[in-house]
Amino acid sequence: MKLRPKLCIGMSLAPTWLSLEGWRLPDSNIEGLYSSDFALDVAKRAEAAHLDFVFRPDASFLPLPIMEHSFGFSSLDPTLLMTSIARETEKIGLITTISTTFGHPYLTARQLMSLHWLSHGRAGWNVVTALQGNENFGQADMPSSEARYARAVEFTEVVQRLWASFPSEALLVDRDSGRYADTDLILPIHHRGAHFSVQGPLNLPAWPGPRLPLMQAGGSKFGIDFAGQVADMVFAMAPDLASASQMRAELSTRAIAHRRQPRDIRMLPGLSLYLGDTREEARALFEATHRRVNRGQRVARLRDATGLDLSNWPDDRRVAVTDLPADLGPGQSAHHRDLLRQIIRDTKPTAAELLARPEILTSVHWQIIGTVDDAFAEITRWFEAGAIDGFIAVPGGAPHSLDLTLEQLIPRLSEAGLFRKSYRGNTLLSHLDDD
Ligand SMILES: Cc1cc2nc3c(=O)[nH]c(=O)nc-3n(C[C@H](O)[C@H](O)[C@H](O)COP(=O)(O)O)c2cc1C
Repeated sequence: MKLRPKLCIGMSLAPTWLSLEGWRLPDSNIEGLYSSDFALDVAKRAEAAHLDFVFRPDASFLPLPIMEHSFGFSSLDPTLLMTSIARETEKIGLITTISTTFGHPYLTARQLMSLHWLSHGRAGWNVVTALQGNENFGQADMPSSEARYARAVEFTEVVQRLWASFPSEALLVDRDSGRYADTDLILPIHHRGAHFSVQGPLNLPAWPGPRLPLMQAGGSKFGIDFAGQVADMVFAMAPDLASASQMRAELSTRAIAHRRQPRDIRMLPGLSLYLGDTREEARALFEATHRRVNRGQRVARLRDATGLDLSNWPDDRRVAVTDLPADLGPGQSAHHRDLLRQIIRDTKPTAAELLARPEILTSVHWQIIGTVDDAFAEITRWFEAGAIDGFIAVPGGAPHSLDLTLEQLIPRLSEAGLFRKSYRGNTLLSHLDDD
């Protein structure tokens, strides 16, 4: 049963529609990638479609081989990018990504509250624990998933306490009396924890309006419990309806365990959309986009995610779950590995079939390769089944996929009563609660 009457929809600003071959198209505007105009154009169009938010995933490392052929993980700092978008938009939510594994809560609390002020209450935080990048922060190894989430819990708590340490009510700004602030209300937090010592208070008052919502991304049991504790939204990896339903159910259980309501957490899988005016066009777009991903690269992607190395396997040999190594390597996510394991169990593929799957070629996100009608039907089916509360659009292949998403798919969902036709509020939290 669905938990809310309308979908919550976000748009990823990672220009997935330009990855692999997409940037080479004449209309890609790739030269503007490191300008704010590039993302602003998408954000303005997403705002015209009344989306809840735009969102920028982020990483703090650069795998070089990808850069030979595409822009990979190179990107502007997401919080600075959102700040530049804030000036030029009025309604749409602006969700940035900051890692709790590499950052510090005082700086993070200040940056995020700054974005919240500068956007008049539209900021959101995608709290990630990151999978790689430790060597850029003086750490020999990546901490385990459990250790990363233990730090994330403390980090987030400190950030929230810092936001509360200088409440907006403390600001008096009374010219007559000359009192600027009521310092009895601005209090240190005296935090001494396993990972951080933070005295506080924050050197910035809280924005005097709805709070700043949190998003979480990461599907291990530690990640889901963390989401149950703090998240308003979860950016999820769910390639099929069964895994989405399972994730939705687990989030509800963990929300209740933390004395929250299941509907307090919106389960939003990434939705990869290869859209065309016909199914044939969409399929051709998908294939053209991935034509340079050779066997070696596909083998490497499977090996990076699961540890299984198919380099020397003949194409027609079947893969079984028992072929997967039991132990996780550094930088591997159990959740990602388990989703691929499930695909292998369900489809019993040959090596060639497994290496041709979209989950290997692109990502383990929900994939729709088809027309706007196909996408509309599929989204409706998942939503009515109560498996999702919305999605984060990750268009692929070409700018045309992005255009069809914003200009046809979203209006179709609005016409069908599944999504808003106009904004009722001006803050991110008001959009999330807009039922
Ligand atoms: C859908 C999804 C999106 C993610 N996006 C990011 C990201 O933008 N930046 C990042 O550093 N990590 C990202 N992560 C990694 C997570 O923050 C987390 O470190 C990782 O998934 C391991 O946690 P887990 O074991 O709970 O899955 C993402 C994970 C998922 C599932």
